[in-house]
Amino acid sequence: MPLETTKNIWHNGRMVAWDKAQIHVMSHVVHYGSSVFEGLRCYARPSGPGIFRLAEHMQRLIDSAKIYRMPLGYSLEELCSAVVDVVEANGVAPCYVRPIAFRGYGEIGVNPLKAPVEVYIANFPWGKYVPGNDGADVCISSWNRLAPNTMPSLAKAGANYMNSQLIRMEAATKGYDEGIALDVNGYLSEGSGENLFLVRGGTLYTTPLANSVLNGITRASVLTIAKALDIPVVEQPMPREMLYICDEAFFTGTAAEVTHLRSVDRVLVGDGKMGPVTSAIHAEFFGIVNGSKPDRYGWLTPVKVPAAEPVGV
Ligand SMILES: Cc1ncc(COP(=O)(O)O)c(C=O)c1O
Repeated sequence: MPLETTKNIWHNGRMVAWDKAQIHVMSHVVHYGSSVFEGLRCYARPSGPGIFRLAEHMQRLIDSAKIYRMPLGYSLEELCSAVVDVVEANGVAPCYVRPIAFRGYGEIGVNPLKAPVEVYIANFPWGKYVPGNDGADVCISSWNRLAPNTMPSLAKAGANYMNSQLIRMEAATKGYDEGIALDVNGYLSEGSGENLFLVRGGTLYTTPLANSVLNGITRASVLTIAKALDIPVVEQPMPREMLYICDEAFFTGTAAEVTHLRSVDRVLVGDGKMGPVTSAIHAEFFGIVNGSKPDRYGWLTPVKVPAAEPVGV
């Protein structure tokens, strides 16, 4: 989808104009994929916009960088303030926020340790990610998710998204909204950019971190919501066919939010409509982020941006 620009991008502690936030073609990241990044949403609420789970996202950026021995040079507090600063400087909310850290210019060769680390934070408008208001039609991908001890799936690294791109392209060319990958042992893993939940007999199931999934922040939020709603939760490895016999299924993610699955491999999930458990979680999630329900877990960081207009959903 086309990128909508804003005015400023935060770079290593100062604002630069959007068009000036550029890198050299010989930067390490361009050749060897050495980046880690985040994606956050800032929601419009009647009380003013709020960034969803800011500290958790920036902590995950720090964790991803640590896995790749990439010194960011900024504390959690500094990174959180930088996100607020760029959103306020651009005056665009609701929006999507994209912090990224990567190995920059000056070294050639795979070893990244001497290449400089650059940190940027951009924000821009971005609406619905997984298409289909009536639910997403998805397929099981012929591509597996990252094998353990190859590309660490707990790091949100740019290079992991080469695998995601294969999954997403295959789904699109076959006429599906999204693909779900199995892990290397054939168990359900996740979508190209979403965690996966299933409901069967009133119990909510999701795949554990050991099935090569990203430790999703929306996933964690849904687990918190489910427990508060007294929905039994089970995290366990699941075979592919669970998707064909479950009553409900949905994706979670910052971009996808809570998106119910209508069909998998053209097999209808339940009756294809959003089921009662998904609906209860969906209502609680959107109620909190859109401000119609109290922010009972302290998930939203307020930002001072006047006249927030909802982006197209
Ligand atoms: C591969 C993958 N899995 C899961 C998720 C969901 O994570 P989160 O809810 O933190 O956005 C994302 C999105 O960041 C992702 O790219």
